Parts: sequence; structure tokens; C-alpha cells
Amino acid sequence: MDLSVIVPTFNEGPNVAELVRRTSDALTGRLVEVIFVDDSTDDTPDVIRAVAASADIPVRLIHRDNPVGGLGGAVVEGIRAAESNRCVVMDGDLQHPPEVIADLLARAEEGDTDVVVASRYIAGGTSDGLANAVRTAVSRASTLLTKAMFPKKLHNCSDPMTGFFLVHRDSLEVETLRPRGFKILLEILARKQMRVAEVPFSFAPRFAGESKASFSQGMRFLTQLTMLRFGRMSAFALVGGLGAVANLLIMGGLQLLGVQYLIAAIIASIITIVANFLALEYLVFADMREESGLMRHRFIKSFTFNGIEAIVRIPVIWVLVSQAHMPSVIAAALTLIAAFVVRFVFHALVVYAPKKSRVGRAVRAVEPLEDEVTA
Ligand code: GDD
Ligand code: MN
Repeated sequence: MDLSVIVPTFNEGPNVAELVRRTSDALTGRLVEVIFVDDSTDDTPDVIRAVAASADIPVRLIHRDNPVGGLGGAVVEGIRAAESNRCVVMDGDLQHPPEVIADLLARAEEGDTDVVVASRYIAGGTSDGLANAVRTAVSRASTLLTKAMFPKKLHNCSDPMTGFFLVHRDSLEVETLRPRGFKILLEILARKQMRVAEVPFSFAPRFAGESKASFSQGMRFLTQLTMLRFGRMSAFALVGGLGAVANLLIMGGLQLLGVQYLIAAIIASIITIVANFLALEYLVFADMREESGLMRHRFIKSFTFNGIEAIVRIPVIWVLVSQAHMPSVIAAALTLIAAFVVRFVFHALVVYAPKKSRVGRAVRAVEPLEDEVTA
């Protein structure tokens, strides 16, 4: 067997025949099986059995009566049951064009990767099939936030939220995966450093049926993210909070010594900016310093960010208070929270971005996203 294609399904009956037909057409000359891991509550299992009986390639059905772990749990079960060590994971609604499997396979056969990701966010890919502008924005923002939380492990991955990828089972410790909800690729990439390459694809509209994505899936995703990576971001928040307190203490102390308040504020700010930077260098991003170029370049970027943030925040507060009639304290707090998140993303993805990488070709893929953050 060259390849096992794992397709999680939840009430996808009308898509099954078309999916099997296109998969088998796209991979003529290859030994390939399709495994449906099905949690449906309708007649989808019967449809799969009927299609299996007349298909050109082996089609297997795992129907779970006790569906643990949702979509992610289904994928893990499929990977366990696969005949081949090379596993492709693909949605059952044809938003992932089966023809792209050939590209995934070709890239995997170059031999220098553990995972090949089908990405919407590199040149040649599109996310046009996302249902609406809100979902597009949510997808973009959550991709950036996720990348900021795992800047090293996801450096070569522009689309950690995709559900379309090829993985070598040998590179996984299947038993240690704890699938929660929708984002199984993230779970795989966040556990340990994988060698990742990407191929572009166009995310298509659904062939038939309805999406199972929901607000509660979104919340589950945020929990997954926090659990996987509570570390770096909370350390970043702690350093920032201590810095703010230190700033006030220094300013108060200087004033007690008779220093004029504006001068005291300037001195306190300079001291905290430098101390904050050193804490980021030696605590929060210590593991990323070596690969991210010169310290003085990082300092210039970080310092510039602080300056721009200070300049931008004031007019935003003014707009919130005078146009949106918000109480000034709430407006200031909101801008501080927003600034915190943007600052974290900027430091993780830009200031401490690795300069070199193991899968050179894939690096270019990330640049558009990082340009976005810089902008
Ligand atoms: N077995 C099983 N169990 N399959 C499920 C379950 C479940 O609980 N929930 C959803 N699925 C299947 C669906 O039947 C479909 O084949 C696939 O998982 C994706 O679900 P959709 O309902 O089509 O969700 P989507 O299009 O919003 O999400 C997809 O696109 C995202 C990218 O925007 C998923 O592939 C995500 O993983 C992907 O990140
Ligand atoms: Mn879908």
C-alpha cells in the first residue's frame, strides 16, 4: 500500500461516491485505500458500504458507536487502522480537492519531511471556499495567534488549522496524541518538532451537506491552544505586568528624591523598556535567541514597536471616548489588552523569527504572513 487516505465523516452521505471516484482517478497507478472513520447519525454508513462494493480502490469503514474526541479522535483512530505508514487526512465534503493528494505524495517522496501540509495560505493556494467574511477573518486571526504561540514548531507551517495533510505515522507517537475537537494537525505539530513542508491548494466550497463547525468548536479550539501552550504567553504577560508595576515604583521613588514628574516618567520608562527587553531575551524567548540573528536588531524592532504602540494607542483612546462614548478607563483598558496581544504576536513572529530553517523551501511560505504582522 502506497498510501492510506483517512476521511472523518459526520453525516456526509451525498459526498461519498464523488470523493471516492475523484480520489481513485487522481491516484491511478498507486496502491491506495480510503478509510472512512464515521460518527454519523444518519444513513452515511450504508452509503459508504454501497460505494465500497463498486469502487476501483479498497474502501474501508470504521463506524464508531462511541465517538470519542470528535473529528480529531476519528482521525487518530484512522491513523491507527491504516495499512500504509503514509497517511493523508482529508475532509469528507470535498472542500479538500482529492487531486491535491498527488502533490502531497510527490512532496513526501522527496524524503526530507515528516509532515506535508496542504496550505491555503501560500502562493497558489486560496481560502475562497470559507463560507463568509467572518469565517475568513476568524481563520486568519486564529492562524496568526497560533503561530505566535508556537513560533518555532510552526515556523514552516503557514496553515496549522488546515485539516488536509500527509503524515508519516512513524514520526508520530500516536498513543500520546490527545485529540480535542477540530484541530488535529495543530495537536500533531505542537507535540514535538516536525519537519514540515507545504503544497498550496484551493479550499473549495462544500460539495453537498452542511458544515459542522460551530461557536462551541471555536471555544474548544481556544482551550486546546491555551492548554498546549500556556507557557510562553503567560510568561510574556507576567513580564509585562511586573514591568508596569516597576515603572510606577521607579517614577514614585524618583519624585520622592525631588525629580520633576515628567523627567521621572521618562527615566522610569527607559529603565523598564530595557529591563523588559532583557527579560524577554533571557526568560520568555531564551530558546529562540540563537536562531534569530543579532540582539541589537531585536532590540531596535522591539523598541520601535513600543514607540509606535504608544503613539497609536492615544488617538484610539480618543476615538473610543469621543466617538463611541466609552468611559475613558474602559477605553484605555481595551487598548491595553489589544496592544498586549498584538505585542505578543509581533515579538513571537517578527522580533524572534528564526533566520535559518531545516526545510528551506517551505520558509518562503511563511513570509507573506509575517509581512502581514509587520504591517
Ligand atoms: N468522524 C467525525 N466525527 N467526523 C467529523 C466530526 C465528528 O465529530 N465533525 C466533523 N466531522 C467531519 C465532517 O464530516 C467533514 O468531513 C470534516 O470533519 C470537516 O468538517 P466540516 O463540517 O466540513 O467543517 P469545516 O469545513 O468548517 O472545517 C474544516 O475546515 C477547516 C479549515 O477551515 C475542517 O477540516 C477543519 O479541520 C479545518 O481546519
Ligand atoms: Mn468542510
